[in-house]
Amino acid sequence: MSWYRNAVWFVKGLREYTRSGYESASKRFSAVDIDVDVAGKSFLVTGANSGIGKATAKEIAKRGGTVHMVCRNKERAEEAKEEIMTETGNQNIFLHILDMSNPKDIWKFAENFKNEHKLDVLINNAGCMVNQRELTEDGLEKNFATNTLGTYILTTALLPLLEKEADPRVITVSSGGMLVQKLSISDLQSENGTFDGTMVYAQNKRQQVVVTEQWAKAHRKIHFSVMHPGWADTPAVRSSMPDFYQKMKNALRTEAQGADTVVWLAVSPEATKLPSGLFFQDRQPVATHLPLARTYSPPEDEEKLMEMLEEFSQKFKSTSPGT
Ligand SMILES: NC(=O)c1ccc[n+]([C@@H]2O[C@H](COP(=O)([O-])OP(=O)(O)OC[C@H]3O[C@@H](n4cnc5c(N)ncnc54)[C@H](OP(=O)(O)O)[C@@H]3O)[C@@H](O)[C@H]2O)c1
Repeated sequence: MSWYRNAVWFVKGLREYTRSGYESASKRFSAVDIDVDVAGKSFLVTGANSGIGKATAKEIAKRGGTVHMVCRNKERAEEAKEEIMTETGNQNIFLHILDMSNPKDIWKFAENFKNEHKLDVLINNAGCMVNQRELTEDGLEKNFATNTLGTYILTTALLPLLEKEADPRVITVSSGGMLVQKLSISDLQSENGTFDGTMVYAQNKRQQVVVTEQWAKAHRKIHFSVMHPGWADTPAVRSSMPDFYQKMKNALRTEAQGADTVVWLAVSPEATKLPSGLFFQDRQPVATHLPLARTYSPPEDEEKLMEMLEEFSQKFKSTSPGT
């Protein structure tokens, strides 16, 4: 089954996820959709120092929004912040240093953030594909800690802040790679069998889709979406998938093209006319399963995933917020 899924996915990718796929899809885009002034609105973008996150932050800054960049590396982040401020002339760009694989720090960050800022839109963009099984200082497998648990905790902690706003949105940057994976909750930390970083990443990205669907059901005041940026030429693709990069480098999207749907979901009034909880590609909702791929999971597994993430997250929650 896995060869079938991978083959169907790759053929689909060649047609849709490449630069030419973007150029063809963008013929139906309306420029008016994202011609929006978002001054006074506050956006938090994780992994905003690089690739799709930086391109997203820049587009929001151009439209007047306040941008909170959440990044793990101070030097790289300050450089990106300077670039965004200089290119857009927007001074309301703020930097927060946070490692998204550290659940305790995420809780602390969110508690402090809630006391000091407002938030209209949360963009969960930071992500990684670590190809060897590495553990964080808390003993968590690094891909799971960053992509699934980090995203879950940051969002959960910021929901009360988002709920205060009139048009709150949460956008999670997943990947079309998730289409090759069926949700699996039996080994969230990849402790068993051979470790395959690409498949662990794809499983995390499937988990992000499931979690978004569950959030949408549980929190009706907030508009949730999850998306695939296509295949874009970013540092992550170059370093984590060198073979894929060598084969595909002339066909990849630009970072801005990869960010286009994130920006559309974040600022366009058109995006929230669609139901909450959907998976997007090139500004439209798309299927979360490949035909005949048998990736549907029982609802009990989806609910169980939420319970397990909640359990993990509570384990790392400080009893004295803000410390
Ligand atoms: N490019 C594609 O073709 C593609 C396709 C599908 C999905 N995606 C998704 O798009 C998102 C952005 O990736 P990208 O392609 O733009 O790659 P990128 O340029 O390497 O950006 C990834 C960002 O995530 C940050 N990050 C990673 N681990 C982190 C951690 N533990 N704490 C805080 N920040 C962390 C990185 O920080 P550093 O700079 O410090 O490493 C960087 O800012 C990811 O979620 C990725 O899975 C990309």
